[in-house]
Amino acid sequence: MSVVRFYRGEQIPLEMHKTRIVQKLNLIPVERRLAAITEAGNNTFLLKNRDVYLDLLTDSGVNAMSDRQLAAMMETDDSYAGSETYFKLEKKIQEIFGKKYFLPAHQGRACEHILAKAYVKPGSVVPMNYHFTTTKAHIVLQGGTIEEVLIDEGLKVTSDHPFKGDIDLDKLRRLFEQYGADRIPFVRMEAGTNLIGGQPFSLANLLAIRELCDEFGIMLVLDASLLADNLYFIKEREAEYQQRSIPEITRIIADCSDIIYFSARKLGCARGGGICTNNEEAYKAMRELVTLYEGFLTYGGMSVREIEALAVGLEETMDEDMISHAPQFIAYMVQELQKHGIPVVTPAGGLGCHLDAGRFVEHIPQSQYPAGALAAALYIASGVRGMERGTLSEAREPDGKEKYADMELVRLALPRRVFTLSQVKYTIDRILWLYDNRKLIEGLAFVEEPNVLRFFFGKLKPVSDWQSRLVAQFRQDFSNGL
Ligand code: F0G
Repeated sequence: MSVVRFYRGEQIPLEMHKTRIVQKLNLIPVERRLAAITEAGNNTFLLKNRDVYLDLLTDSGVNAMSDRQLAAMMETDDSYAGSETYFKLEKKIQEIFGKKYFLPAHQGRACEHILAKAYVKPGSVVPMNYHFTTTKAHIVLQGGTIEEVLIDEGLKVTSDHPFKGDIDLDKLRRLFEQYGADRIPFVRMEAGTNLIGGQPFSLANLLAIRELCDEFGIMLVLDASLLADNLYFIKEREAEYQQRSIPEITRIIADCSDIIYFSARKLGCARGGGICTNNEEAYKAMRELVTLYEGFLTYGGMSVREIEALAVGLEETMDEDMISHAPQFIAYMVQELQKHGIPVVTPAGGLGCHLDAGRFVEHIPQSQYPAGALAAALYIASGVRGMERGTLSEAREPDGKEKYADMELVRLALPRRVFTLSQVKYTIDRILWLYDNRKLIEGLAFVEEPNVLRFFFGKLKPVSDWQSRLVAQFRQDFSNGL
């Protein structure tokens, strides 16, 4: 992907791929959108895809696959044990990450489950740059706790820090001194830090963490689910690595990590997951858990078709054109929204464009889920499905008290190579309309609140009739209701 300056001025990201398979989309009128979000309990996870125009919920499992991936899926060797298809993937992992042992799993959270089961005990403390929902849930389920040691800048919604996903080395050292290797099974570093807006870590930071881990004899685990974005940003923003190739940068990152795990729904544009390491002991500790929870060691819950697609997808991730598509579209979106004063997370990260609901709807208190309300309002105003990444995505404290999120965000994920620039422009336009009418948006309250990962299937209702008023205003401004 390159950013090209048009002869007449505008700078836009230019696609380095063409579309040859398409899927029809529906854009339903605003009253039907209100009915759909009401039926979904104001939870965008519960919307039916047929009611969604642009699905910006996630990139997970919905990145476009390449012709080479689809071709690979046609040539598979299926067997319970020892399939050639598996060995192809194992070889690709060895080639890219330089890790001898590979354990397949059905998706990223399955890897987290296995890691937590193998290493986390009651009383364990796991330091990390920032948590991800499923990561934290698995560590807590085993009786451990997490400690976020992100640099302070990481939690500033607007910033010009190029690597907001970095770990604060002093904070990490203090934790090491306090708990030591007895209580700290590993440090977890997340590439393209999801919940703070897809923000990368720097290679300089990772190398320093490696040194600190060596000093205290503690393992370093990399969550590489969003590695593609992080690789792009290291090459783009870290002067020292601008002349290095993507495979070289990948190898330096991998060499710093004792264990790497990933969701192949993100990394490699397929569906599945995996864990790799050179540590034989770690491999053996996790191997039996894979056979117990996932499947035999040569498929781990994945279909052979997906394994073939993943091997090709990982190889394609080493291509700069491929990995720059999403970050450059996101940068475009962020830049256009900022031009109009819309509060967004800066600098632009990977994964998606993140609206800062904390400021967008600053009149809504955190107890009424401003990010959830904004995600519902955006769907009503556009048919675009985003994802709440704020207080709703947190779990309550053990005593039942609400845990307010550090940031109230609405994530508009950009699956790789899926949407066009005109669709992105439509999304920007409807966000501008919503911003002009933001005073109409009010909060949400739970009707049904699950105990675990409540954001996935909890149901909420608006605290007043604000959604009908929003629809009426929309009809007035767009007479055809679209
Ligand atoms: N780690 C990170 C950083 C993730 O972003 C995800 C998933 C996982 C682990 C879990 O992987 O879904 O394959 O089980 N993130 C998705 C998202 C769900 O939409 O951001 P999984």
